[in-house]
Parts: sequence; C-alpha cells; structure tokens
Amino acid sequence: MTAPTVVFVDNDTETLTLVSRLLHNQPFNCVLFESGPATLEYLRDHSVHAVVSDLRMPEMDGLELLKRVQQQQPETIRVVLSGFGDHEVLFEAINSGLVYRYIPKPWDAVELISVVKQSLDLYALRNRQRELTKELELRNQELERRVEERTEQLMAIEKEAELGKYASQIVHGLKAPLQSIGGAILVANLLLDESDPIHLELKHCLDSVLDSAGELQKAIVGIMSHTTDESFMRKAAIDINEIIRREIDFFKLDDDYKHHVERNVVLDPERPPLQGNALQIKQITDNLIKNAIDAMADAERKVLTVSTAQKGNWIQLSVSDTGRGIPEDNLARVFSPFFTTKPLGKGTGIGLASVRKMVEAYGGSISIESTVGVGTTVTVNLPLG
Ligand SMILES: Nc1ncnc2c1ncn2[C@@H]1O[C@H](COP(=O)(O)OP(=O)(O)O)[C@@H](O)[C@H]1O
Ligand SMILES: [Mg+2]
Repeated sequence: MTAPTVVFVDNDTETLTLVSRLLHNQPFNCVLFESGPATLEYLRDHSVHAVVSDLRMPEMDGLELLKRVQQQQPETIRVVLSGFGDHEVLFEAINSGLVYRYIPKPWDAVELISVVKQSLDLYALRNRQRELTKELELRNQELERRVEERTEQLMAIEKEAELGKYASQIVHGLKAPLQSIGGAILVANLLLDESDPIHLELKHCLDSVLDSAGELQKAIVGIMSHTTDESFMRKAAIDINEIIRREIDFFKLDDDYKHHVERNVVLDPERPPLQGNALQIKQITDNLIKNAIDAMADAERKVLTVSTAQKGNWIQLSVSDTGRGIPEDNLARVFSPFFTTKPLGKGTGIGLASVRKMVEAYGGSISIESTVGVGTTVTVNLPLG
C-alpha cells in the first residue's frame, strides 16, 4: 500500500520549512503549499488523505479553502491551524462538519504529529466503512437477484404445471373422439359395397375423413413439440450442459423431486457447442427428466442420471432412472402420440412423441432401453454442426 498524503498550507514559508523538517521521517507523504489556489490546483489530479491549513492567508482564507476541498474531495480530512481569537468561527466550522480538528498556534510539534495521525486514522476508518458499505450493497444486489431468479423459477413451475394440466385435458378430450372417428370409419368401410358407384364415392369421403383425423393428430404433436413454430426452429450455437444444469436446478424446486431424488449429473466439459434452439433442447431434457421422475414415484431407490458426451460428430444425451421400467408390450408404443399410462391431469402421452419429432428435426436419433423394476435409459444423439 502506498503511504497516505497530507497537504500543508501556510503563506508563511518559514512555517512550511519547519513542518517539512519535522515530518520528513513520518510514515506519510507531506506536500506543502503557500496558498489556497495552488492547493486546489494540486487536488485536481491528486487524491489526498488530509489537508492541514492555516486560517489567515491573504489570497484565500483557510475556511474558504477547506470548503472547496470538501467539494472537490469530500473524503479528505480537514484540519485548521489558528491563532488565538478565532474561536467563534472555528467553533461553527467544527460544528458544521467542515473542520475535523483545529491546532492552536503557536503549535507544538508533538500535538501537530498526533493530530495528523488521528486524521489519517479517521480517513482509514471511514474508507473501510465506505468499502464495507459498497460490499454490502453488492451483496444485497446479488441477494435480490437470486430472490428474483428463484421467484421467477417458482412462478414458471406453477405456470408450467397449470399449462400441463390444460394440455392433458385437451389431449384427453381429443383422443376419444379421434379414436371413435377411426373406429367408426373402419366399421363403415366394412359395410360398403365397392361395386356400387355411390358406395365407392362414400368410401373416398370416408378415406379423406380418416386422413383429416390423422392430420389432426399430427397437428397436436406439432403444437406440443413446437416444430410448427418458426421461431423454435431458429438455430444458434448453444451450450447443452448449461441448459441441463439450469433444468436440474429448476427441478430442485419440484416437490416430488427435491427431497427424494439422488442426482448424478455427468456433463462432458469438452463438448463443442451445438447448433440448435435452446428452448427445444430444454423441452427435450425437460420431458425426459419429468418422465424419469414420474417413473420413480414409488421406487425405493431413486437415482436420476443425466449425462452428455461427445461421440465423434455427435453429442449424446442420456437420461436414466431407477424407476418402474416399461413392460415389453408398451416399449414399442411409448413414442406414439397419446400413448400414456398416467392418469388424467398428469400425462398427455405427447411427451416422447414430440421429443422424437424434435430430435428427428435435428437429424438426430432417439432410443429407449428399459427393464421392468430396474429402470429406463433414454439416449438421444444430436449431430454437431
Ligand atoms: N422413464 C420412463 N420410465 C417408465 N415409463 C416411461 C418412461 N418414460 C416414458 N414412459 C412411459 O411412456 C409413456 C409415454 O410417455 P410420454 O410420451 O412422455 O407421455 P406422458 O408422460 O404424458 O405419459 C408414459 O405414460 C410411460 O408409461
Ligand atoms: Mg412425459
């Protein structure tokens, strides 16, 4: 640390010489001036810790000088040297905070040094106080930021849960009529006699109804996967690890998850950035993690493993759980739209269908491996570049 600087101002050069001799081996730098204006000029580009000024000076008196010092460098400690008879003005200057101390003239060397040292101590103390206040402010800001972030996350969770519930109801509401349209057309087709030209015409109509029902189903998956939404298809360089970290953080707030699920997150630190859409990647991980957590609801051991790894020109994302697993018969159906084993309000059966749709839109692939009672691993491969 550099030594503090003390400025002395006195129009009497002899006094200044005396001061300089007296203070030359003290642990602070001493700078001497003969007038107020010269002092102010110096202060313009030097920061000083204390100014000790004579009171009576021809060009600018000591109090006027200290007032300007206060404006220019408010932290500087201000001290006055004064003769007998100046008590009244000094009293007021001290009371108003303009002057910290005064040293009566003729001054005593020991007292002068002691007052300068006290001034420097005071400067250091106030400086420390300023630093602490600043630090406190920064910490407060950081705390506020974190509270805001958490609140946002909590609100997002609530909103998502609410939206999820609606989506589930809508999809369930559409599922039954779509199935009965398919069923009715199948039956109607059996009743048609294709040799009758009117029946043949009817068959064409029914076929187009069936096509439309299929389109409707596709549209629902498209909406849920956002692959129909242009802004979702816009790609940029993204950091998949960061998205996963945030996603896991987000799930920490989930009631089912935060107390019971052990997390095992193994992210490849070397992976290059992925060309993709952050919201889609988020949705892919989100769906897979949600399924994993749901599957472990009744499991004794709940371990969620999420990993990323670079495999040649691919990024491999894998989500594993130690949940109930998927029976062989269902394994082939989990990617079909509307296939769900979850109750109304909880599952839509759209999750994996839309994940597959998104992954395929990237030119990637998805696979699922599962053993009943042991757990499930979903592996997604996304091309790099
Ligand atoms: N990790 C998993 N463990 C066990 N079953 C799963 C897992 N992921 C998906 N499934 C099964 O696949 C079905 C379809 O999943 P999904 O398409 O995400 O729809 P939802 O979660 O709305 O049911 C689930 O209902 C569940 O039966
Ligand atoms: Mg799901």
